[in-house]
Amino acid sequence: MSMHRVFVSRQIFPEAIDLIKSEAQVDLWEDELPPSRETLLEKVKGIDGLLCLLTDKVDVELMDTAGPQLKVISQIAVGFDNIDISEATSRGIPVGNTPEVLTQTTADATWALLMAAARRIVEGSNSVHNGNWRTWHPLHYLGQDVYGATLGIIGLGRIGIEVAKRANGFDMEVIYSDLFRNEAAEEEHNLRYVDQQTLLKEADFVSLHTVLNDKTYHLIGDNEFEAMKETAVLVNAARGPVVDPQALYRALKEGKIAAAALDVTEPEPIPMDDPLLTLDNCVIVPHIASASVATRREMSRLSAQNLINGLKGVPLETCVNPQVYENL
Ligand code: DGY
Repeated sequence: MSMHRVFVSRQIFPEAIDLIKSEAQVDLWEDELPPSRETLLEKVKGIDGLLCLLTDKVDVELMDTAGPQLKVISQIAVGFDNIDISEATSRGIPVGNTPEVLTQTTADATWALLMAAARRIVEGSNSVHNGNWRTWHPLHYLGQDVYGATLGIIGLGRIGIEVAKRANGFDMEVIYSDLFRNEAAEEEHNLRYVDQQTLLKEADFVSLHTVLNDKTYHLIGDNEFEAMKETAVLVNAARGPVVDPQALYRALKEGKIAAAALDVTEPEPIPMDDPLLTLDNCVIVPHIASASVATRREMSRLSAQNLINGLKGVPLETCVNPQVYENL
């Protein structure tokens, strides 16, 4: 019996590759950078399964090019805004992602960003490395207090809840806005539901945890920065385009907010001539919120297992479009 053919669009943990190799013939993209669009389309021709990343656009053209035998798309990320899910669903192709396994790690990283921006940790560290630490000064590197402050969570999904839970240790008040109220979470974690405008006005820290779609594109722009406190800190560990980057630059430059910390940017990677990179009050890291050894290992395993399940016609462990199984 001939083995299934799969394309894996980037290096993942070796044991996950071995797992896939036990079931399929693997074409692994070993470069550090993603395959070009042209190469990606070439690579997917005739494959039965695709293991992909956020940086690979999986659309009608790609599915057409792959061909009607394509059985599964397995993404190594919880988000899937790079994949045309309704197209995959209409073709009966299950799409896997990696939820849960990265929730705690991403919530931890959100807090690392929040604290770094609040207490000017990156600026302070850079000053030491650059030889600018000349004395202890009562007025140097003054930041914002976290203890006892108000944390505003926009988007109370799995990660938003975990970020909120960590705020208890800092005796913070936690407010949240979302399309839907989650009364159980409110009760369990002592959260207050507010509309977004109220959140922006009241929060000392605004942390974004929404998905990216037409409704959340540039959700935070000039008007929203206008509503925020001048001492507020914005944290984005969701998706870059949820924040209008030009409006963010203006807000940080003109002192409409105190600081921002970004795990994600629009576009990614952020170009070296982006004005945000000229600001000391903007911490930017390269989309690493889920990047712990254990989490990336588990994301590798889960995405490999989803790929194999899809090849075998078994339901995926974590499936974005379970509707594909409805008529089985
Ligand atoms: C995701 O999983 O969607 C993150 O952005 C990367 O871990």
